[in-house]
Amino acid sequence: MSVPTIRTRALRKVYGGRREAVAVDGIDLEVPAGMFFGLLGPNGAGKSTVIGMLTTRVDPTSGTAEIDGIDVRRHPAAAKRLLGVVSQTNTLDRSLNVAENLEFHGRYFGMRGREAKARAAELLETFQLADRARSSVAALSGGLAQRLMVARALVHRPAVLFLDEPTTGIDPQTRINLWEQLRALHAQGQTILLTTHYLDEADALCERIAVVDHGRVLADDSPAGLKREHGSDTLITMTVEGGGLEGLRAQAEALPAVAQAVLDGDRLRVTAGDSEGLLATLVSAAADRGVTVHDASSQPPSLESVFLALTGRELRE
Ligand SMILES: Nc1ncnc2c1ncn2[C@@H]1O[C@H](COP(=O)(O)OP(=O)(O)OP(=O)(O)O)[C@@H](O)[C@H]1O
Ligand SMILES: [Mg+2]
Repeated sequence: MSVPTIRTRALRKVYGGRREAVAVDGIDLEVPAGMFFGLLGPNGAGKSTVIGMLTTRVDPTSGTAEIDGIDVRRHPAAAKRLLGVVSQTNTLDRSLNVAENLEFHGRYFGMRGREAKARAAELLETFQLADRARSSVAALSGGLAQRLMVARALVHRPAVLFLDEPTTGIDPQTRINLWEQLRALHAQGQTILLTTHYLDEADALCERIAVVDHGRVLADDSPAGLKREHGSDTLITMTVEGGGLEGLRAQAEALPAVAQAVLDGDRLRVTAGDSEGLLATLVSAAADRGVTVHDASSQPPSLESVFLALTGRELRE
């Protein structure tokens, strides 16, 4: 078996100060090479602190963190060569232009001048920043600045790319562009760890998601697995009319896939774990009983309901 690209064991961080704050409370993660992994959690959950410890910026209180089998605490310099970071804030060097931000990063990681220039040019091309090469980074829009930060994080070809809430506060179009770029990187085999408090983002991008809150992992599974395991039923709502409504309700509830069928005036609400073909079955059962169906809709399971089931709370902004 190959070593996982990211591995943490009982990783913990307690910030000191007047009042101690347990930011990360014993986290075990294992992310294999090539995976697109998400840390999903609300503000203050501990996401940035986990990234901070994995990227050598934050010193763990206890536990271990490894990148490609290298202990980041014992060998920070070696670990840094294996990771690229896009942090939550703009960390571009304002005294350098766009291309220089990439070239200096390459030089920092030991590339020769010509090699660093070539790698910078290649990334400017990939990230559609070539026409901005000589611009001041201060002149870049938020979206372009962020694209440049992703490009910079990749200059030294890291084994894993960390992105800390990359789409918080950016416009929808920029967000979709970034998603496409990240998908393309992933398709090329790049291991990615992304944090977000947007469920749709984690759902759209990640192969596996660790749901974190108060410094703990509440669940770690594929988006589909999370939805399956944590009570996020599909909800079918039908607007119905006719004499046989109670009979239809009872028949619906007797179906193996159905958890519950509730009649509320002219609305029939059916929750089900497995919704495959269920809507069609209900509509034809209604027809058999002489019940008219005016409207029918099906809501898929969502990560919102997963978070609600795991924490008993709505995901706070
Ligand atoms: N330098 C620090 N000193 C003291 N406490 C801190 C420090 N950094 C973070 N914390 C606390 O640790 C907890 C976790 O913070 P962290 O920034 O890791 O969460 P997060 O999930 O990244 O949140 P956000 O979504 O707001 O970025 C919070 O309660 C926070 O107040
Ligand atoms: Mg954070």
